[in-house]
Amino acid sequence: MVELAFSILAADFAHLAEEIAAAERGGGTMVHVDVMDGHFVPNITFGPPVVKAIRPTTQLPLDCHLMIENPDAYIPAFAAAGANMISVHQEVCRHLHRTLQLIAQHDVLPAVVLNPATPVDSLIEVLPMVHHVLIMSVNPGFGGQQFLPLALEKIAYLREIRHEMGLNFRIEVDGGVAEDTVASVVKAGADMLVAGSAIFQPGRTQANATEFLRLARAAEAEMLAAEAE
Ligand code: DX5
Ligand code: ZN
Repeated sequence: MVELAFSILAADFAHLAEEIAAAERGGGTMVHVDVMDGHFVPNITFGPPVVKAIRPTTQLPLDCHLMIENPDAYIPAFAAAGANMISVHQEVCRHLHRTLQLIAQHDVLPAVVLNPATPVDSLIEVLPMVHHVLIMSVNPGFGGQQFLPLALEKIAYLREIRHEMGLNFRIEVDGGVAEDTVASVVKAGADMLVAGSAIFQPGRTQANATEFLRLARAAEAEMLAAEAE
């Protein structure tokens, strides 16, 4: 079933626990944590201490998206802080296979992320070892950007490859996924949906999450029905 990984980048940082609880009440299934270093991406957010602080506030898995250079140096700290999944960018990993192994050695589910300009084919050899592949549908660094339709083809292609290779990694999409784009990303084959600005809004977070998931699951049901024909 399609999942909502709500991105706390768009939440009120002064009330993170309440914000997470509202998105969870609305049906959100994982917490997406956007870690930015001011080098790989032109923005700075938070690191392991924030992951550690939110860990006891929710039972949901923490999906940590590392938009940082040299992720190997920080993977142990994110694992110790309570990350359940760690995704690293293909573009910063000179030894991607080694980095994914390092994540798995820390009992965290490994994942890899592709920027809009990075081809899916660059991942063929590591696909058997990942829990999910995250397709960026914006250039990383900021919430609230416009969805790039080129992501749809990449998602559909990745889904095809997954089938051909007989694998079952999940396909996540991140950036500009909102009420107007969610159906198309689900129909292309995404099964973990990251959304920040479409979910977090003062007083509306729970309802936004519920409505977002309703649209996502309706698109999923339509897709499965079409496939069964
Ligand atoms: C962008 C981040 C995203 C971001 C998504 O660099 O990786 O997770 O928070 O935000 P929205 O949903 O507002 O595009
Ligand atoms: Zn993200």
